[in-house]
Amino acid sequence: MTRNLLNIDTSTKLAGLIGHPVGHSLSPYLQGRLASHMGINMAYLGFDVEPGTLKSMINGGLAMKAVGFNVTVPYKKDVMQYLSSIDPKAEKIGAVNTLKPKCGSFVGYNTDMPGFCRALKYDGVDVKGKNVVMIGAGGAANAVLCGLLEEGAAFVLVLNRTVSTAEALAERFRSDYPGQTIETWSLSDDYISFMKKPEFSDKPWIAIQCTSVGMHPDDTNTAIKDDEFYKLTDTGYDVIFNPSETEFMRRVKACGGRAFNGLKMLIFQGFRSFEIWNDVIVDDEFATELIPDMEELLSNN
Ligand code: ATR
Repeated sequence: MTRNLLNIDTSTKLAGLIGHPVGHSLSPYLQGRLASHMGINMAYLGFDVEPGTLKSMINGGLAMKAVGFNVTVPYKKDVMQYLSSIDPKAEKIGAVNTLKPKCGSFVGYNTDMPGFCRALKYDGVDVKGKNVVMIGAGGAANAVLCGLLEEGAAFVLVLNRTVSTAEALAERFRSDYPGQTIETWSLSDDYISFMKKPEFSDKPWIAIQCTSVGMHPDDTNTAIKDDEFYKLTDTGYDVIFNPSETEFMRRVKACGGRAFNGLKMLIFQGFRSFEIWNDVIVDDEFATELIPDMEELLSNN
């Protein structure tokens, strides 16, 4: 596996991940590989920011003239109050995962959404005009819903354990995408009958799994256990990448569909952050090189 080769000197740009904890993040590896591949002298470190010290971290990052930061759990919302401006899509999603300095403060972006869209394209999944069902309405689901609407999904059904959370999510997006329909259902109601309605029968469903159910070590679990759901699904996308094949993916495949995990979403959100910081475009082919290396890294973790 290719390792990061750092030749740090006084012109090395600093980037990093702000979160708590950050110990298991793959971003330092991913960003190190991107820097080597693109020939950019940038070092990317993990910063474990203790609760209550986020503002100091932001000010420190500015003082050190960092080229930018990623932001992860639990600071994706909190960080917004310390920024001079926020990209409109990040504002709509309600979360910032990328900071770039501008005129003495940081601008906030969300690269999870474009990362998700690029992963769909990479895998040849076109949601334009299609029926899409999402499971979950948390942080990941916000970026996914925005991406699906941006890519032209005709109908998005949001299923969630807590339907009020799904409805609040849908309501934030409805007026911005008036030609597209967003409907919400509780996971405990009969959403299968709804999905089988004749108006949806001409196109199979694309399903995006956005909950944390099934994440390692809960490998054999899935938020939906009814086979009827999987029979209606021809393409399944799981935002989880560990395990590499989730129970959700296994069930989609067992019913004859194709299924993808969230590793490419992670890779492409990293590409987009790197592009924003360094004003470059990263070629998609580099993802093809990175995927097996990151899979190996995950299997050794
Ligand atoms: P993330 O930021 O990773 O998306 P999150 O914001 O905590 O995480 O959201 C977790 C999602 O997984 C939510 O949609 C949550 O449903 P609720 O809104 O009802 O809490 C969903 N989830 C978590 N555990 C679940 C379970 N056991 N069954 C079904 N859904 C679950």
